[in-house]
Amino acid sequence: MKKAFVTGWPIKHSKSPMLHGFWLKQYGIDGSYEAYGVEPENFEQFLKDLPSSEFMGGNVTIPHKEVAFANVDQLDNAASAIGAVNTLWLEDEKLCGGNTDAYGFSANMDQFAPDWKNGKNAIVLGAGGAARAIIFAILDAGYEQIHIVNRTYERAENLSTLFDKKCHAHSWDKLPELLSEADFIVNTTSIGMAGSDASMMPDLSTLPTSAIVSDIVYIPLETPFLKSANELGLQTVDGLGMLLHQAVPGFEKWFGVRPEVTSELRDYILGLSS
Ligand code: ATR
Repeated sequence: MKKAFVTGWPIKHSKSPMLHGFWLKQYGIDGSYEAYGVEPENFEQFLKDLPSSEFMGGNVTIPHKEVAFANVDQLDNAASAIGAVNTLWLEDEKLCGGNTDAYGFSANMDQFAPDWKNGKNAIVLGAGGAARAIIFAILDAGYEQIHIVNRTYERAENLSTLFDKKCHAHSWDKLPELLSEADFIVNTTSIGMAGSDASMMPDLSTLPTSAIVSDIVYIPLETPFLKSANELGLQTVDGLGMLLHQAVPGFEKWFGVRPEVTSELRDYILGLSS
C-alpha cells in the first residue's frame, strides 16, 4: 500500500485527507493519505527519517513549510523562488521538496478566468507567505507590473526585492490610485473578515469593468472582498480551486495517477466546509 501524509502543527483542520481520500477512492488506488501532526521541535528529525519510512511523501503545512525548504536534498524551481516547501517526495532516495501553491493558483485561474493571462498590470494585497507564491505565479503568467500593497509597508518592500523589477511595494493608502490601472487584483489578507478593521476594506468601484478579482481564502467561498466585486458586476474567482489544484502534482508523484479536479470534488469539499 502506498502511503502519504499531510504534516503541520496543529493539523486537525486540514481538508487534505478528505481531498486525497476522494481521489484514492475514485481511482481505486490501494493507498492512504493521513494527517500526521509533528511538533516543531521534532520536524527536522521527521524529515531525516522520511527516506527510510513507509511513506512515499506528503504535504507540509504551517508552521513547517520554511523548515522543509531548508532541509530537503533538492528543491524545484517554484519552491526555490517561494522559499517554502508544501510537497515532499522521494527520488533515488533523495528527499525532494516542491511548492505547488503557485501552480494551484494558476490552474484555478485558468479554469475559471482563462483570459487572466492577457493582463499586464496586477495588484496583490498582502505580503505574507501566500502572497509570495501568488507573485511567482503572476510573474510566470507574463504580467509586466505587479503592485504589492500591504498594511505593513516594510513587508511589501522586502517581498518586492525578492523578485524582479516588475514588482513594486506600496503602503495601503496608495491602493485607490492603483485600482484604475489594474487588470487583475488578488487578495491574500483577511480584510473584511470578522474581527478585521472594516476601514481597510477597499472601495473597488474604480477598477476597470474588465478587471478580474480573486481571493485565496475559501471559507466563506464568497469573501467580503469578492462580494463587493460581485456587487459591482466584476468577474471573480474564489479560492477553493487553488486548494484543489495545488494537490494534483503531489497525488501524481505519490500514487502515479494525475487526478482530475471535477465539479463533484468541488461540491464534496464544499459540503465539508459548511
Ligand atoms: P500567509 O502566509 O497566509 O500569507 P502571513 O504571513 O501571516 O500569512 O501574512 C498575512 C498577510 O495578511 C500580511 O500581508 C498581513 O499584513 P501585515 O504584513 O501588515 O501583518 C495581512 N493582514 C492580516 N490581517 C490583516 C487585516 N486585518 N487587514 C489587512 N491586512 C491584513
